[in-house]
Amino acid sequence: MTALKNDRLLRALRRQPTDRTPVWLMRQAGRYLPEYRATRARAGSFLGMAKNPEIACEVTLQPLARFPLDAAILFSDILTIPDAMGLGLYFVDGEGPRFRHTVRSAAEAARLAVPDMETELRYVMDAVRLIRRELDGSVPLIGFSGSPWTLACYMVEGGGSKDFARIKAMALNDPDTLHALLKVNTDAVIAYLSAQRAAGAQALQVFDTWGGVLSPAMYRAFSLPYLQRIAAELERGEGDDRTPLILFGKGNAAHLEALAATGTDAVGVDWLVELSDAARRTGGKVALQGNLDPAVLYGSPAAVDAQVRQVLDSYACGTGGSREGHVFNLGHGMSPDMDPDHVAALVEAVHRHSAR
Ligand code: CP3
Repeated sequence: MTALKNDRLLRALRRQPTDRTPVWLMRQAGRYLPEYRATRARAGSFLGMAKNPEIACEVTLQPLARFPLDAAILFSDILTIPDAMGLGLYFVDGEGPRFRHTVRSAAEAARLAVPDMETELRYVMDAVRLIRRELDGSVPLIGFSGSPWTLACYMVEGGGSKDFARIKAMALNDPDTLHALLKVNTDAVIAYLSAQRAAGAQALQVFDTWGGVLSPAMYRAFSLPYLQRIAAELERGEGDDRTPLILFGKGNAAHLEALAATGTDAVGVDWLVELSDAARRTGGKVALQGNLDPAVLYGSPAAVDAQVRQVLDSYACGTGGSREGHVFNLGHGMSPDMDPDHVAALVEAVHRHSAR
């Protein structure tokens, strides 16, 4: 394999010095890019794109052709795992993901098994291998998975949800079934991330998108222990060959100390936490990723510049002046109606304000 030409992301995740703060954006490939919409029209559907390694590779590279980002993220979805478990994923336009089969009883949970990574999820591993080849060492490739809890939300609810009524009822009335579901999901996430690493992913992120809908006590029961298991059991190598793990959670501000103690390399935070506080509370144990409010991209390029600077300075304030160990990102994903020119302004602002 070619040596990595831009290793800022990996160095920052290891809390080593870099010439500037690395930046990538959650959902950096997507409908806000006209070239994505053109590829999607040709492919027919989102799942058609994700299941075709050549197309997944093409759209992974699209944002990198426009913006000098410091990482690529595999174009795929977190719901590939439950799909491969046989739940039947499909997308309703304008309404998001749905499953043909849900998991709401002990019997339904007991039927689930960890999918085979090189058959049922081969299309993901083929995409990782192809993207690595096409990147040719320009920037690292990030692989990812949903968290056990976030996957369970979709599997129990059968799609997106506003109130998470069914899974919260299961947590209260039938916790053993929920724990059985979370256990098989955890086994699958560990196998999935290991397979992506073996296929060439150079950093790994777990998206706990819905951890923040749980009360602190419920989070400690149903999300945190499974994130701890992933951080403890996921084999990722040693020293400079180590594949760093990022635990991103929306609404995880109450749990930063606990997340930093899991053994993860980095914690991703949303914009409801002040980065200086997050840095003080995690005390140099982990790198931090975040945390610009994605809605800042609706502001003018000048407003984007000012808000980017605020986030960078907040991090440095929490470390006593150091910018090491910070990966710049949004606090959650981009939206389809965002302006690519504002993304260009964001990346430029990170470069300008973080140059050492
Ligand atoms: O960050 C990236 O650029 C990589 C690609 C990526 C996608 N989904 C592509 C996608 C990643 C990392 C995901 C993860 C994902 N998928 C999460 C966790 C991250 C997050 O945003 O919280 C979740 C909850 C999902 C489930 C999912 N998939 C939802 C809620 C949706 C949105 C449906 C919609 O209509 O907006 C998807 C579809 C999806 N995944 C799209 C993309 C680019 C939109 C596809 C399209 O319609 O073209």
